[in-house]
Amino acid sequence: MRIVNLLLLFLFVSCSLLSASVTKKEIAPGVYVLSLGEKEQFTPFELFAEPFDNEKMAQIDCKKLPFALEDIIINKNERGCSIAIPLSDNEQLYGFGLQIGSFKQRGLKKRPLVNDYPLNNLGYTHAPQPFYVSTGGYGILINTPRYTTFHCGSNQLKAKQNAADIKQKEGTTNVEELYKSEERGNYVFVDIPNAEGIEVFVIEGAGIKEVIQRYNLLSGGGCLPPMWGLGLKYRVERDFNEKQVNDMADYFRKNQIPCDVFGLEPGWQTATYSCSYIWNKDRFPEPAKMMSALKEKGLRINLWEHAYVHPTSPIHADIYDYSGDFLVWNGLVPDFTLPEARKVFGDYHSRLIEQGVSGFKLDECDNSNIGSGEATWGFPDMSVFPSGLDGERMHQLFGSLYLKTMDKLYKEKNQRAYQDYRSSGLFMSSVPASLYSDIYGHKDYIQMICNSAFGGLLWSPELRESASKEELFHRLQTVLLSAQALVNAWYLQNPPWLQYDKEKNNKGEFLADAREMEQITKTLVDMRMALIPYLYSAFNRYQQEGIPPFRPLVMDLQNDKKVEDIDDQYMIGDCLMAAPLYTEGNARQVYFPAGTTWYNFYTNEVYEGGREYTIENKLSELPLYVKSGSILPLAEPVQYITPETVFHITCNVYGKNPAPFTLFEDDGETYNYQNGEFNRLILKVEKKGKGKADRKGNFKGKRFSIDKWTFLSTD
Ligand code: GAL
Repeated sequence: MRIVNLLLLFLFVSCSLLSASVTKKEIAPGVYVLSLGEKEQFTPFELFAEPFDNEKMAQIDCKKLPFALEDIIINKNERGCSIAIPLSDNEQLYGFGLQIGSFKQRGLKKRPLVNDYPLNNLGYTHAPQPFYVSTGGYGILINTPRYTTFHCGSNQLKAKQNAADIKQKEGTTNVEELYKSEERGNYVFVDIPNAEGIEVFVIEGAGIKEVIQRYNLLSGGGCLPPMWGLGLKYRVERDFNEKQVNDMADYFRKNQIPCDVFGLEPGWQTATYSCSYIWNKDRFPEPAKMMSALKEKGLRINLWEHAYVHPTSPIHADIYDYSGDFLVWNGLVPDFTLPEARKVFGDYHSRLIEQGVSGFKLDECDNSNIGSGEATWGFPDMSVFPSGLDGERMHQLFGSLYLKTMDKLYKEKNQRAYQDYRSSGLFMSSVPASLYSDIYGHKDYIQMICNSAFGGLLWSPELRESASKEELFHRLQTVLLSAQALVNAWYLQNPPWLQYDKEKNNKGEFLADAREMEQITKTLVDMRMALIPYLYSAFNRYQQEGIPPFRPLVMDLQNDKKVEDIDDQYMIGDCLMAAPLYTEGNARQVYFPAGTTWYNFYTNEVYEGGREYTIENKLSELPLYVKSGSILPLAEPVQYITPETVFHITCNVYGKNPAPFTLFEDDGETYNYQNGEFNRLILKVEKKGKGKADRKGNFKGKRFSIDKWTFLSTD
């Protein structure tokens, strides 16, 4: 160990009351766990990670860590645990879950804590994670559900102060200058009050992408949503009844705007804040019949709820003893760590699934204690749960526990769901569900697509109202270029493209050009449907190799320093880059990463890598760019997806010597693929410049028909 570290270690440890020794263990290839003190009863790893595949993890590239494991200092004293992790000058840090408001985390103080509102960029979010990843090729994860604070190179120990630091500001009286921090801390300091013991996971990788792959594989792999889950999800107004739902279904089909799922909002129940989980029979007299008729039209139903159990709910009495000591909205808060709570809640919901419910929207499983001051859906941190958890730790775990309970119900029926939830945490990549939020900043939404990838999370920006035609379509474009294409019209009587102003929409005053708006919407959603086979294959790689289907450029292209800052462009799979528009006007600056050339998806114009261009984008076009050397399968759009849907595909070849592309083919609905019932359809270009599709595997059905090849080769 270097002298300076010895010195620091001495300073750091000298204030501790207990001196215990740190143990080190490699729990999976490239994953080391350093532990100190008594192991906590509830840790995210033990609660959420699914069995992992050692062999696959061993195949992921690593490079040497920039520090020795012994250089990580872990300390325990009467406050709790603290950790110091070395940080070198040229490293950039990312992560901490679904961060809102910052992309690069170096120099910041971050407290990843569950809250519905981000509040001053302190780290509060729907999906907090005590986990960061460095451009140095490693990740640091603190396996705790406790509120944890990270000082990401923002602070310096006094022992490290040197003469140069002191001299720098001499002679200046400029206040701005004086306030500007000159410090470049070379540690990340982590503070975990009240922890009796702590585990630090060090995850290796050749770069950020490999670290995240390894993290996702350690969690059990990425999820594979049902194929229909990648189509459009439209949530209807909260008080809609059966007739209004059916009319809306007819609207979509008549106008041929593709849609796969309708979401019903609170009004489907007899009591909602808290929840009864009983169908409101005035609005929905025969729910099973309605759902089956809608399914005939290719529409599945998703139901809004939260986990707080209303006194009139049929499960109230049975779950009473398995819930916390505080109420939320007069409802019980189930302790989902207990099998009894999972059984009562699960058995009841299982019957709703058997009626035909395709998934749930698990609302308000985050916390509202901080920021709004209203605290309407936060149980206090001092709450006590029957398992022994307190409110603080339950907050950090609640969304994940709830989602896992609900996902298991579908798994047991060999049915894949794609659910919505508003809070997540560590090790959740294998569960098919996507996060959403009430916040509505478009730029934030795009940055969150980038940030979600650092934590094995999926994120759906959503479309509601907007201020102009331009803004509406820019938002819709982003929605369609995300993990779940979601229009959330929960307070709109009519689709927002017919009237984007909320008040006018609800009065039924449509825009003069509503028809044209509808056409543009159709064109855009059609393009999402054309991309389904491509997206599904990207999700298969997520599932198998842990590669996030939507990810910031810094994950793939770390050799180009410029991409370290880019949080408004991202990769979709390996071939496509999205650069959504989110400011006024129909043009934006797009940076094309170095090392290759790129094509405009619509015009085929070629862009050089390592340069920025100003590019115009039509409202009816998705802001997409294709990497040279790609084979891009594009399907004839369909209105909705069933297990019988066969996609008719054109393979577009960009550039010379394209990499083969593998389409993943299965029934798209069940878990049979895990028993080998799938095909791989390898698309490649042979020497003679001809395309070829090679199908291999045990799946008897056929989802893809390769009808055509087109070649674009200008580079
Ligand atoms: C919010 C949720 C919205 C909508 C609404 C219904 O909490 O974020 O999307 O579902 O509840 O009351």
